[in-house]
Amino acid sequence: MIMRSWLFVPGDSERKLEKARDNPADALILDLEDAVSDDRQDAARDMLTGYLQDRTDRSKQQLWVRINAMDSPLALGDLAAVMQGVPDGICLPKPYSADDVNTLANYLSALETREGIAEGSTRIICIATETADALLRFPTYLDGVTQRLTAMTWGAEDLMTALGATENRVPETGEYDAPFMLARSLALATARAIDAEPIGAVYSNFKDHEGLAQECHRDRRHGFTGKLAIHPDQVPIINEAFTPTEQEVSWAERVVAFFEDNPGTGATSLDGKMLDMPHLKQARNVLTLAKALTQQ
Ligand code: COA
Ligand code: MG
Repeated sequence: MIMRSWLFVPGDSERKLEKARDNPADALILDLEDAVSDDRQDAARDMLTGYLQDRTDRSKQQLWVRINAMDSPLALGDLAAVMQGVPDGICLPKPYSADDVNTLANYLSALETREGIAEGSTRIICIATETADALLRFPTYLDGVTQRLTAMTWGAEDLMTALGATENRVPETGEYDAPFMLARSLALATARAIDAEPIGAVYSNFKDHEGLAQECHRDRRHGFTGKLAIHPDQVPIINEAFTPTEQEVSWAERVVAFFEDNPGTGATSLDGKMLDMPHLKQARNVLTLAKALTQQ
């Protein structure tokens, strides 16, 4: 399944959990961390476990759970509860390095065995830029991280606190400021280096649909393949932005056809644009993605 949109749903809100069922999000991230207050943690674990057990058909929408961070006393209890509902994956906040992701993978192996689930089937997405340490330890992901890590995303809100910053965007332009662009680029490159999907950060101003659309298009231009959402209305905008347009598909078809009709061609030009092997590869990627999306 192609995962363009990932909608966060507070894990203690029956109303929002119900509302999210019919939302076109490719995945829900049922949240036990920042969206749930300390006194609601037990209630949220129970609610989410029941919700997962009730929704066994994941063909249209995957169900992932964000647990508390690995250095929180809540993380293991979160996992022990929600694994009874066989989530498609776990979202890990605030890792310090790939070590935290690998520790989570070991816990998952134990709990999969307890639940009789195939070992290795629960995937992981981590929010890779929420601590200062994490920014300096990105190379640890290239040093044998678990295969469960199939997606990587980043965030500027917790990082702002971790860095002692007062803003994460340039007030005059609304663009992310330098430390946050660095975090974004590191997450993108690291995700690609380990063959995980790079997923764009939350756009917190959920009423600004135009701003979200622009940020989605920029994320996609840079190589991200999907985006996190916090509000149901953000999801159709994300889905559209991460789906190749008809124009892109027809251009890609022409590029592929041109190279097929002219075997042995290296660099050439089409409609006044230079084309070579990377363009052919990119065109094939667009066609593969468009085909996969029509089948889901
Ligand atoms: N998932 C499912 N349903 C949601 C939702 C979400 N993330 N956010 C809002 N809704 C529902 C609301 O319950 C409401 O439905 P209702 O009219 O049937 O009650 C409807 O969508 C419209 O919501 P709206 O009034 O526009 O927003 P709000 O003021 O109720 O909520 C937020 C705003 C930001 C608090 C809410 O969107 C939210 O909780 N987002 C997720 C926050 C989160 O998970 N943060 C952690 C990750 S960064
Ligand atoms: Mg957070």
